Amino acid sequence: MFKNITSKELPKDYSASVRHEKLMAWVQKMAAHCQPDNIYWCDGSEEEYQFFCNVLVEKGTFIRLNPEKRPNSYACFSDPSDVARVEDRTFICSRLRDDAGPTNNWMDPREMKSLLNKLFEGCMRGRNMYVIPFCMGPLGSPLSHIGVEVTDSEYVVVNMKIMTRMGKAVIDQLGADGEFVECLHSVGAPLALGQTDSKWPCNPEVKYIVHFPEERSIVSYGSGYGGNALLGKKCFALRIASSMALEEDWLAEHMLILGVESPQGEKTYVAAAFPSACGKTNFAMLIPPKAMEGWKVTTVGDDIAWIKPGPDGKLYAINPEAGYFGVAPGTNYKSNPNAMETISRNTIFTNVGVTPDGDVWWEGMTEEAPAGVINWQGQVHDPASGKPVAHPNARFTAPASQCPSIDPEWENPAGVPISAFIFGGRRSTTVPLVYQSFNWSFGVYMAATMGSEMTAAAFGELGKVRRDPFAMLPFLGYHMAEYFNHWLNFGRNLPNAPRIFGVNWFRKDENGNFLWPGFGENMRVLKWIVDRVRGRAAAVECPIGWMPRYRDMEWVGLDFSREDFKSIMTIDREAWKKELLAHEELFSRMYDKLPKEFFFMRELLLSSLWRSPEYWGLAAERE
Ligand code: GTP
Ligand code: SPV
Ligand code: MN
Repeated sequence: MFKNITSKELPKDYSASVRHEKLMAWVQKMAAHCQPDNIYWCDGSEEEYQFFCNVLVEKGTFIRLNPEKRPNSYACFSDPSDVARVEDRTFICSRLRDDAGPTNNWMDPREMKSLLNKLFEGCMRGRNMYVIPFCMGPLGSPLSHIGVEVTDSEYVVVNMKIMTRMGKAVIDQLGADGEFVECLHSVGAPLALGQTDSKWPCNPEVKYIVHFPEERSIVSYGSGYGGNALLGKKCFALRIASSMALEEDWLAEHMLILGVESPQGEKTYVAAAFPSACGKTNFAMLIPPKAMEGWKVTTVGDDIAWIKPGPDGKLYAINPEAGYFGVAPGTNYKSNPNAMETISRNTIFTNVGVTPDGDVWWEGMTEEAPAGVINWQGQVHDPASGKPVAHPNARFTAPASQCPSIDPEWENPAGVPISAFIFGGRRSTTVPLVYQSFNWSFGVYMAATMGSEMTAAAFGELGKVRRDPFAMLPFLGYHMAEYFNHWLNFGRNLPNAPRIFGVNWFRKDENGNFLWPGFGENMRVLKWIVDRVRGRAAAVECPIGWMPRYRDMEWVGLDFSREDFKSIMTIDREAWKKELLAHEELFSRMYDKLPKEFFFMRELLLSSLWRSPEYWGLAAERE
């Protein structure tokens, strides 16, 4: 039976040398309230990582994978009640309700604090408290920010080691009075004396993911999974950072960052926002089709971008993370070879299947499930059951440095210059493969009204189209309409703002098959985008923006006919009338603060749809 690690067993820590009084006082106060058995300050070393992985193996949480197949890698299964972000349990507790806006859950911060105080009292009994200093962004970069997470979860410790720059170096950087974001986390499952811990401790009934934007602090209770528990990611790098960005005039976005190298060796960086489980990781690691010789894509980040204007007026972006917490199902050597290489070692797998020979498996990795594979619920998979082997939101945690396509500048403290923004949802109808917005304002409108079918990355109604502005609906720390205004103003102040594009890889035929091959073939869309930015690709004006004709795109090596192109580029008047009604619905939720431009842009779109068919008739059909 596993007992909590005692102070004797824990490695020696450096807490005696910490000079930051405010940090020390906060940790002491949290410890007094949560009542852990011990406090341990993480140093971020390799030995420490191994120590906690071993602890998790002993506890039964981690399964050590076959070192010949997956060196230094582990699999684990979460509690069935704790498999994704909990949007309905996520709160923005600004002092005023109006500052959180209509798209966030809100509670009065005093009321929330008194509720959380009760929950956290003694919540770490029988466990240890781990102090995790972490830096979002390269240590020392002017674009980076520091946080300290205290948690009672060893799983969080080892995941934070991969996902962030974590440990003693961050404490050194903080010095005696550096600024940090307080991140308090507990799985919410105290242990009575002698009680055996469960393999995935969490609180199946009570979960709170809470943000105090004015204080810039985070409190998370009851969940050990992903964005609920690894507080540097969505809680800090998006919700708190977005409200910092509003104040300080920068952007914190749910975006991948990639570099495109042309055959001439010219480099262009773009950032792209797609909702959760809609293809950011895949796009960020894209390998161009063989026939498009000389084109190359490099990866800066796969989930989050922090973007600031540089002295030259260009926008510079960093990836605040140091690892990938990526969707496993669907990942294979065809769809994403770079991800497969990245996760070949030093990786933690959560809620995937485990094969009898100690490797991992998930739907889409190979055609058929290997015989005897253990599913994410810990049972031998029964193909007749119809149940999946891996949970649809199963994830891998892997170091970014292991990605074969990692960009040489990915840790450049100054960031990389961004030339285009791309926005894309998961839409089986209506939205075309690609289009360019008329200008910055229309681009902001397009991103603000983006819709996407819901995925398993969060609890919710699967497949339902919901408006997900900028792919930020679950991740914005303030009022959505204020965010739209922030984006509008932001572009106005740039001498040469990045161009804005919309994409949709997910359009389907009447039988439910994808019309676009996607994955590596997305390079064809990316090439058109880069060529547009560079002023060398043609396009025609359409009701919703500029679109490529068939001949404006590169088709070498792909059997994709003019008819196929038409099926994926058609702007259907009736469908778009419905789409514009959905925009109206979104606007009516935040009418008072909505940028006035939006009403006129919506009118303009509607009017152009009503023009003669020759006008809104298709780019796809033009010669
Ligand atoms: P988060 O990590 O949740 O923010 O999501 P993400 O946007 O990084 O998601 P990811 O790239 O892991 O998306 C995974 C899902 O998108 C899988 O179901 C993939 O099969 C699917 N996907 C990615 N690219 C494409 C594509 O080009 N075409 C199609 N049809 N599916 C794609
Ligand atoms: C997302 O849901 O967008 C993710 C995964 O990137 S999590 O970190 O769990 O939020
Ligand atoms: Mn994400």
